[in-house]
Amino acid sequence: MPEPQLSEPEIPVYECEAEVAEGLEGIAWRELKTTFDDRIEKAGTSGRKAAVRFRYTGNPFHLLKLQTVQAVYFVRHYPIPRPKALLGDQHFKALLAQIAAVRDLAPAEAYRTFTISAAGSDSSVMMRLKEELGAKIGLTADQEGDLLIRLRRPVDGSEGWESLIRLSPRPLATRAWRVCNREGALNAAVAHAMAVLSRPSEYDVFLNLMCGSGTLLIERLAWGGAASIVGYDRNKEALECARQNIEAAGYSEQIKLREGDVTDLDVAAKSVDVIVADLPFGNLVGSHTDNVRLYPAVLTEAARVAKPGARFVLITGEIHLLEDLLEESPQWKSEQVIRVGLGGLHPRIYVLTRK
Ligand SMILES: C[S@@+](CC[C@H](N)C(=O)[O-])C[C@H]1O[C@@H](n2cnc3c(N)ncnc32)[C@H](O)[C@@H]1O
Repeated sequence: MPEPQLSEPEIPVYECEAEVAEGLEGIAWRELKTTFDDRIEKAGTSGRKAAVRFRYTGNPFHLLKLQTVQAVYFVRHYPIPRPKALLGDQHFKALLAQIAAVRDLAPAEAYRTFTISAAGSDSSVMMRLKEELGAKIGLTADQEGDLLIRLRRPVDGSEGWESLIRLSPRPLATRAWRVCNREGALNAAVAHAMAVLSRPSEYDVFLNLMCGSGTLLIERLAWGGAASIVGYDRNKEALECARQNIEAAGYSEQIKLREGDVTDLDVAAKSVDVIVADLPFGNLVGSHTDNVRLYPAVLTEAARVAKPGARFVLITGEIHLLEDLLEESPQWKSEQVIRVGLGGLHPRIYVLTRK
């Protein structure tokens, strides 16, 4: 008798979309590709701003480790003319299955509420959908729900509707280490992208000017080790906030915090490989008048402590001020500029090298 053929277990394939800060799509895709290699391929409308669409093969739990994206969603297409058809048995079951696959990735208590985000989310159809879904999944509808369900027309203009279910109760960019939040804190996924843009190496002497609540310091170490990681700020409360976040991240041993003015650093000349800074934009933090004095002083002091060829990655909303200074700078060469779009703001990330 022939041996029974054991069939290979089927590896699931997921249609996904990563939401990213506009301008950082390329960096996010590189992270996806280096992390998942041939388990991932670009899908359909990937060239879109602020999103990367892809097909993923494997355990979706691993997608929750992504560092440069804001959030990841499962995507499902429904060949229906109107969202009302989602209430039909076949499509409703498909939507429930998609939700169940997401909830499988977290402990049951992680989800208590849900939100449906769609054009016309107050319409009677959406209200019914909310009611029927709430009853089935046992969650309460809420404005800021843990389970986020987005319904939309396909972005490539094709027929039908799509549901996108966020894979985590909070966006991935909302880090668990952020136990102390300060106004003006940098988005953690953007900070991570800045760490990547600094071409990091384990031998880096790394300096974060104006570290505030510690976002750039923590995200640099989350990328990987360095010879030293030091953050400076002149504000005691900011430093205490950074200390709490660094402790929550489990990095208290590796990251050093120093109180001081970054225009007069207690750092040896030509001793630093990588400098990063989230400069005051002059709206939420600082003022334009202060920045006119502060920015040139920061560039000069950073140039003093930088080794020849050192990288300086900074983010600012003071585009004209910075670009005028860089044009005349005998010390810094601008290698790359990325316009980032996030939450209605459009700051730029500058990658500079020490001439
Ligand atoms: C935009 S915030 C940095 C926010 C930080 N990236 C975060 O995620 O919390 C700018 C920081 O610069 C600090 N700062 C402003 N001028 C400074 C100076 N001359 N020396 C040192 N720190 C300064 C402020 O105290 C503030 O914490």
